[in-house]
Amino acid sequence: MAQAPEKPRRPDRAGGKRRSPLRPADFTVRPMAPGDLDAVLAVERRCFRDPWSRQSFAAEIDDPDRVHWSRVALRGQRLAGYVVAWFSLDRAHLANVAVTPMYRGLGLGRHLVELAIGEARDRGWRWVGLEVRASNDAAVGLYRRLGFRCTSRRRGYYREDREDALVFTLDLKPGT
Ligand SMILES: CC(C)(COP(=O)(O)OP(=O)(O)OC[C@H]1O[C@@H](n2cnc3c(N)ncnc32)[C@H](O)[C@@H]1OP(=O)(O)O)[C@@H](O)C(=O)NCCC(=O)NCCS
Repeated sequence: MAQAPEKPRRPDRAGGKRRSPLRPADFTVRPMAPGDLDAVLAVERRCFRDPWSRQSFAAEIDDPDRVHWSRVALRGQRLAGYVVAWFSLDRAHLANVAVTPMYRGLGLGRHLVELAIGEARDRGWRWVGLEVRASNDAAVGLYRRLGFRCTSRRRGYYREDREDALVFTLDLKPGT
């Protein structure tokens, strides 16, 4: 008998507990590679009104200076999510993170951002920063959950529709 396809999972936020059998440990995470770009672009276009281009992602992969850092999360052969961070100047910048709708609410987004934070720690960075659309409740919830604080608001930051960006910052060495 053929195996049943995986059913889409839904976070059961109303009831509190999640019933999904999947956890971040059930995904394989590795550096983004050229062969991932088609799948990454498909997810990117599904997730964002202002998606990155293929060239933007390709630049993340091909970086001998280690300024650009990226990871993909896979469930079998299927792309489940990705994260991109930049390590330049005096702080790490979380540049992009997305989880495909089917795998949301499982802790994968949090896991991917925690990997970027861990990389910042390992490199000795003190600050991790990012911008997020003011209306993006899921992402704002994720960043707050990880201890980021909203430090400013950039009015009309997003060119497409002039939505405001919230700037979030995480201090990796608080109290020092
Ligand atoms: C934002 C995103 C990456 C979250 O990924 P995810 O795997 O579903 O998130 P997680 O399951 O790891 O959730 C971690 C925390 O985020 C918050 N969160 C996640 N989804 C949320 C939602 N729909 N509403 C409010 N908070 C939410 C919660 O605090 C959650 O912690 P909890 O489960 O203990 O309450 C995902 O929704 C996504 O890909 N969105 C589209 C792309 C995007 O907006 N990226 C961010 C650009 S700045």
